Amino acid sequence: MATIVEPGKRPDVKHTKCFINGEWVDAASGKTFETVCPATENTIAEVAEGDKEDVARAATAAREAFENGPWSRMDARDRGRLMYKFADLMEQELDQLAMLESWDNGKPLRDSRAADVPLAIDCIRYYAGLADKIQGDTVPIRGNYFCYTRREPVGVVGQIIPWNFPMLMTAWKWGPALAAGCTIVMKPAEQTPLTCLRMAQLAKDAGIPDGVINVIPGFGPTAGGACVENPDIDKIAFTGEHITAQIIMKNAAQTLKRLTFELGGKSPNIIFADADFEAAVKGAHFGLFFNQGQCCCAGSRVFVEDSVHDQFINRIGEMNEKRKVGDPFDMATEQGPQVDKAQFDKIMGFIEKGKEQGADCVTGGNRVGDKGFFIEPTVFDNVTDDMDIAQKEIFGPVMSVLKFSDVDEVIERGNNTFYGLAAAVWTKDVKKAHHMAAKLRAGTVWVNCYDVFDAAAPFGGFKMSGIGRELGIRGIDAYTESKTVTVAL
Ligand code: NAI
Ligand code: MG
Repeated sequence: MATIVEPGKRPDVKHTKCFINGEWVDAASGKTFETVCPATENTIAEVAEGDKEDVARAATAAREAFENGPWSRMDARDRGRLMYKFADLMEQELDQLAMLESWDNGKPLRDSRAADVPLAIDCIRYYAGLADKIQGDTVPIRGNYFCYTRREPVGVVGQIIPWNFPMLMTAWKWGPALAAGCTIVMKPAEQTPLTCLRMAQLAKDAGIPDGVINVIPGFGPTAGGACVENPDIDKIAFTGEHITAQIIMKNAAQTLKRLTFELGGKSPNIIFADADFEAAVKGAHFGLFFNQGQCCCAGSRVFVEDSVHDQFINRIGEMNEKRKVGDPFDMATEQGPQVDKAQFDKIMGFIEKGKEQGADCVTGGNRVGDKGFFIEPTVFDNVTDDMDIAQKEIFGPVMSVLKFSDVDEVIERGNNTFYGLAAAVWTKDVKKAHHMAAKLRAGTVWVNCYDVFDAAAPFGGFKMSGIGRELGIRGIDAYTESKTVTVAL
């Protein structure tokens, strides 16, 4: 794997500073941190390390833009037009953005091109079209009054995102916030700040006014924590680990911020013997190994009905033997490195734990190469519900396969987790499919498919997988306040 990310293939890194009120500025402290290519472990760039003071400046700019700028007051249709323009500029740079994403995150370029960037563009366009469709109700109340509700922007929103889908998470956060007329202080993940910074410039180039979008790169407890505590920020939208969400919830209490959380999962992917077997194996493989297993909704507990279990293990093994792991910039590559050393170590620790606790490691289980954070696609068979690899979010290319024999049993076991983000069912029996869809305690249930995302389809978690829903028409709700107006007639 000597040719990883050859210099000739590298995109330009145009922005590395904080983006405040439409200007690129150093962090107040002058500090920077490195962002690293996880395939080579080489530094890509030094990025401004924002902290409390930078967040305060960004929040002041966002507050000023919200209270006195044109954004929240302009015709909603014009806001939509600027958002369409922003999406068009992203599309013009699709290849560059995809390369930047793959360089910073390590994900295969073919995935960035086919999924991350197009889905991000699609999300901005979806919400551009919704900007002028945010409306209230007329309310029939007792007496001689005219009562109606208005949906108004919630104000300045703080948005904190992870590194697994940096551009797409930026779009999920900015789309509804911009459509609603909010202004933004964004804290991208410290591992992957580059595409978010580029998007901020494209938004400015599209004509989105200064101060509407501000981006402060930096670390969680410092820059992220400052967003949570800043009194000029009205709401926090967070995606990441549930433990971080618990810290955010505590720290947000002081200012009673509105909170939406999209957190992790241990999603059951349930394969019945009466399923289209080949489709189910492919779906299970994609549902876990896509994006190096770094998906909040990864189908990481694969429940396979007894009678097709052995066949399943064989077929998954064959697929993993052929899987191309390596240089993210090689268009044949299917799996890149994990995002950083911390994630790599965490995953290798789970693999050790799985072996220790008696599961059978039937494929993979090792590091690939000695440079970059590559891990073999790994499958554990004979996993039992009590094992760590069946309970905890691994967030890597490690599949746990569990056997089952009946519907009620698999519903109970599938739900036996504090998470509730996603689930999937593979069966040709329509009645069984809908029964399972109703019984599984998860925000999304896929039937005979996996990881089907669309900007129009709500996404979020039951239980400790989150609070609120993103995407779809109602995705706007978390970015608006409802105001009731009553007029005596
Ligand atoms: P994390 O939740 O710590 O980080 C996500 C974002 O939150 C980053 O921007 C980070 O800087 C920020 N953050 C961290 N601590 C903060 C704090 N005290 N206040 C405000 N913001 C804070 O997740 P991390 O450490 O990157 O990954 C740990 C585990 O979390 C992963 O192994 C995985 O299991 C899970 N995870 C889940 C994701 C999802 O999509 N649901 C995404 C990333 C990680
Ligand atoms: Mg963390």
